[in-house]
Amino acid sequence: MRIKQYRTQFIQELSPFYDAYEAESFFYLILESKHKLRQIDLALNHELNFSIADLVYWSSILEELKKEVPIQYLLGKTNFYGMDFEVNENVLIPRPETEELVEWIINENGGIDKSKRLKILDIGTGSGCIAISLAKNLPNAEVYAIDISKKALETARRNAINNNVEVTFMFKNILELEKLDLNFDIIVSNPPYVRNLEKEEIKKNVLDYEPHLALFVEDNNALIFYKKIAALAQKNLLENGQLFFEINQYLGKEMNSLLESMNFRNIELRRDIYDNDRMMKGSL
Ligand SMILES: C[S@@+](CC[C@H](N)C(=O)[O-])C[C@H]1O[C@@H](n2cnc3c(N)ncnc32)[C@H](O)[C@@H]1O
Repeated sequence: MRIKQYRTQFIQELSPFYDAYEAESFFYLILESKHKLRQIDLALNHELNFSIADLVYWSSILEELKKEVPIQYLLGKTNFYGMDFEVNENVLIPRPETEELVEWIINENGGIDKSKRLKILDIGTGSGCIAISLAKNLPNAEVYAIDISKKALETARRNAINNNVEVTFMFKNILELEKLDLNFDIIVSNPPYVRNLEKEEIKKNVLDYEPHLALFVEDNNALIFYKKIAALAQKNLLENGQLFFEINQYLGKEMNSLLESMNFRNIELRRDIYDNDRMMKGSL
C-alpha cells in the first residue's frame, strides 16, 4: 500500500480521539522512528510503499493510540533538551516545562569558573532527564541523582550511558532521609506535585499510563516533598548553594512563603511558556 494513502487512513481512524494535526504528527514520528523516513522523503517520493509486515506493525500502533497510550511510550523514546531519552511505563515522560528549568540552571551556572567542580543533586530523577542534561551541558559538574523507583533508576542509568555522561544514581526514599551523604552546590527537584483534587484536569493518557508514584500527592499535604527537600538543602547546600524546583502552577504563593519561612534568599518564581507559575529558585 502507498504510504501516502495509508497516512490519510491513519489520520481518519484516529479522528475520534485526536485532532488531525496531532494525528499527523504521530504519523510522522512513527514513520521516522520505525522506517527512518522523514516528511520530506515522502513528499519527494510518492511511490513509497508499506509491506504487509509494515501494515501489521502500524495497525497494532493504531490500536494502542486509540487507547490513548502516549506516543512516547509506544516509540520507547522521547527528546529532551536536544537528547534522546528512553521512556517506559516506569518513568514520567519529560515535559517541555522541565526543559525550561534545566535551561535556567545552565544559564545561571554555565559561565562560572570551569576549574571549580560543581556538585549537583537531582531528587526524583525518573528518566534521568534533568541530571543527564545538566551533566551534558555543565562539563565541570559532578552529578548525583536519587529516586525511590528501582525501575526508573535502571532506565535513567541506560539513558546516561546512551548519552555518554556520568551520573551517580542512588536508590533512596527522600522522605525518610535525615540528611544527605554529601554537600552540593545545586539541588534540583521536580517532585510529585499534582493534588488528587486536580485529577479531573489530567488527561486520560497521563492518568491511565504514567506512573502515579511520579505524579500525585495528598491534597492536605501537597508540599510534602518541597518541605522535606528544602529542609535537606538547609543542611546540605554549600555556601551560596542554589535550590531549584519545578512546582505546581497553583501553588506559587505557597512555595514562596515556604522558602521565605525557611530563610532562603534570592527567591525567584518564574512562569513557563504556557504562562503558568512553574519554577523557583532560592539560595542560602
Ligand atoms: C514528577 S517525577 C519527575 C521525573 C523527572 N525528574 C522529570 O522531571 O521528568 C517525580 C519522581 O520522583 C520519584 N519519587 C517519588 N517519591 C519519591 C521518594 N519518596 N523519594 C525519591 N523519589 C521519589 C518518582 O519515582 C519520580 O521518578
